[in-house]
Amino acid sequence: MNVPEHIAIILDGNGRWARSKGMPRNYGHTMGAKNVENICRACHDIGVKYLTVYAFSTENWKRSDDEVSAIMKLLRGYLRTCFKLADDNDMCVRVLGDLTRLESDMQTTIARLEEHTKDHSGLYFQIALNYGSRDEITRAVNRIAEDIRSGTVSGEITEEMIGSYLDTRGIPDPDLLIRTSGEERLSNFLLWQCAYTEFYFTDVHWPAFDKEELLKAVESFGERNRRYGGV
Ligand code: FPP
Repeated sequence: MNVPEHIAIILDGNGRWARSKGMPRNYGHTMGAKNVENICRACHDIGVKYLTVYAFSTENWKRSDDEVSAIMKLLRGYLRTCFKLADDNDMCVRVLGDLTRLESDMQTTIARLEEHTKDHSGLYFQIALNYGSRDEITRAVNRIAEDIRSGTVSGEITEEMIGSYLDTRGIPDPDLLIRTSGEERLSNFLLWQCAYTEFYFTDVHWPAFDKEELLKAVESFGERNRRYGGV
């Protein structure tokens, strides 16, 4: 099997999945968060080296206060249990996005988790949290401008330099991007990094996206004739 080195996933459909079961939206988020663990294990098992998930976008703050606080509670709990998950699956965890808007205890847990897992190398797992690609690029450009002004960097601005200022610095671009639940758009996720990425869309809602569905996506990727350097 031609396994992609890096899979990125837009987790979509928690709410619709819950509604289809006659349950509240937040139940969908709980089951969606559990499913992240399953897919981490599945990726580790099949030999994917990098997995990046879109957990919370810069636009997601516009949801109701109740929903945002339920999601933050879930993410906080997830980050705490992630130490064990990361140890069990040899995962190096990194969080992408503007973390300054998160509560300070979450920022502390993230820093500890990144430090605790930094030497793990079985699966490089990125969680995009308060992430938006335009925001990431804007932050990067501002930092480049600052470094030029202060004389820390000089010379031409290159693609490599821009890449090294992005949240994803050091991480190869995704080979395959999966979006669940029927929508077919990028929604401000990894716009720079997905320049040559293959896309896979499925109607399956995120909480129901299991290892079998992951294998279907990987098989579809394997069947494609990839043309680097072309169109
Ligand atoms: C997607 O479904 C939900 C989100 C993008 C927000 C919260 C994400 C999670 C709880 C997953 C947890 C992630 C980690 C890393 C633990 P939706 O609410 O957009 O569904 P809908 O489109 O059907 O309403």
